[in-house]
Amino acid sequence: MNKNERIDPWGSGIYENYERLIKEFGISPMEELVDMLPRPHRLFTRGIIFGHRGFETILSAIRRGDGFVVLTGFSPSGNVHFGHKMTFDQIAYYQSLGADAIITIADLEALAARGLRLDKGYEIGVKEYVRAALALGLKPDRTEFYFQSKRKDVLDMAIYYATKVKWGEMSSIYGFNESTSIGHVMVPLIQAGDILHVQWRRYYPRATIVPVGVDQDPHIRLSRDLVNRTRILNVRKFEHGVMVTLSDRELRKLLEETEKRLRELGYSDLEVNIPYGVIKVFGASEEDEYLIEKLTTEIERPINPFAMFKPSATYHRLMRGLTGDKKMSSSKPETAIFLSDDIEEAKKKVMKSVTGGRVTAEEQRKYGGNPDICPVYELFVYHLTEDDEELMRIRQECLNGERLCGYCKREAAEYLERLLSDLQEKMNAVDEKTIKEVVKND
Ligand code: TRP
Ligand code: SF4
Repeated sequence: MNKNERIDPWGSGIYENYERLIKEFGISPMEELVDMLPRPHRLFTRGIIFGHRGFETILSAIRRGDGFVVLTGFSPSGNVHFGHKMTFDQIAYYQSLGADAIITIADLEALAARGLRLDKGYEIGVKEYVRAALALGLKPDRTEFYFQSKRKDVLDMAIYYATKVKWGEMSSIYGFNESTSIGHVMVPLIQAGDILHVQWRRYYPRATIVPVGVDQDPHIRLSRDLVNRTRILNVRKFEHGVMVTLSDRELRKLLEETEKRLRELGYSDLEVNIPYGVIKVFGASEEDEYLIEKLTTEIERPINPFAMFKPSATYHRLMRGLTGDKKMSSSKPETAIFLSDDIEEAKKKVMKSVTGGRVTAEEQRKYGGNPDICPVYELFVYHLTEDDEELMRIRQECLNGERLCGYCKREAAEYLERLLSDLQEKMNAVDEKTIKEVVKND
C-alpha cells in the first residue's frame, strides 16, 4: 500500500469508489445481510450503509434477543448537520431493536487534531449534539453521552493499549511522522478506549456496533486488533468452522473449561489439542461463532478484564456538499444543511446547490440528468422521503429528462421545510433536565 492508498480519518476527501474499498481494505459488503435485519432502515435498504466488519455478530445478538450496545462518537467541531443526522437515525433504529446507546463527544480528539478548547467542546457537545440526539428520537432512558476528557475508563484503556502498539504500526496506518504531536498520536488509542470501554469495568461484555463513515475504518481495525492482542482465548473462522486458540500455554485450564462447556452445549464435532492450544469446532455457523465468542469471553473474564467481544462496525457513505465540495462539513456552512439552520436560509442553500443536471433545460429534457452525482437527489435518498416508490419515480424522471432541476430543488426545499420545522420544534422542546440525565460526566 503506498501513501496515497491510506484511509485518512482527518482528511476532507470522500471515498467515491466504494467497491474498491470493499476489495482492497477487506471491508465486507452490507448488501447480503440487509434482509436479515428486522424492519431494515432505509439507510440499509438504499445502500447508504454499504459495508461492515463483523456485522454477523450483531445479527446473532439480535436474533437471540441478547442486548447489544451501539457506540459512536462526534467531534464537537460545529453544528449538527444532515451527515450527523444520518448517524443519529441509525442509533435510533438500533435502539428500536433493543440496543443501549453510548455516544462520545470527542473533545480530546478535537483538541489534539484541531486545537479546539475543551470548554468550547463541552458547550457545543451539550447544546448541539445532545439536543439533536433527543430531538431525533433517541430514547433518554437508553442513551448516555460522555466526554472523552472526563471519562477515566477511556483514558486508562488508551494508556494500557498504548503499551500494545508500536510506533512503526501507528505511523504506517496513519501517516504520522516527526512533526505529529503526541496528543494526535494518542487519538486512535483514545478512540479504541471509547469503543472498547463499553465492555469494560463499568459495563460488561456484549456485542457492540459502531456506525461510522468509512474514513474511520483505521480506528475500527485497530480496535478489533487490540481485542485480539489482549485476549487469552481467541475465536476465529477456519475453512470448516470456528476455532478457539489459547495464547498463553500456562492457562490451559481455560481451554479445558472451554471444551467442557462446548460439549455441554451439544457441540460434539470437535478436534481438541490442549498442548497445542487449539480447539476446532467443525461445522460451526455464524451464530455458533457468536455463541462461542460469548462463551469464551465468559470463561476468560474472571482472570482477564480485557476479555470482550470484537467490536463490529458499519460504514456509510458520506453526504456530498451542496457546493460540490466532496463532503458536508461543519466548518463550511454553505456545504451543509444544519438542523439549526434558519429555514429560509436552508431552502436557499438547496436552491443554490450544484446538481447532476445539464447546463440548459433543453439539454436536460433531451439527455436527462445524473442523480448519482447530485447532492439534491442525495437529500431525498438520505432524509427527505421514506417512500421508495416516490424515490424511484424521482430518479426515473431525472434520468429520462422529465424532471428539471429548478422544479426538483423546489420540491426538495418544500420537504426540507417540513422536516426542519418539525425537528426544530422538537429541539426546542428538549428540556434541560433530560439533557442532564443523559450526559454522564465521568
Ligand atoms: N473520530 C470520530 C470523528 O472524527 C469521532 C469519534 C471519537 C468516534 N470516538 C469515537 C467515532 C468512537 C466512533 C467511535 O468523527
Ligand atoms: Fe438532481 Fe433533481 Fe436535477 Fe436530477 S433533476 S439532477 S435529481 S436536481
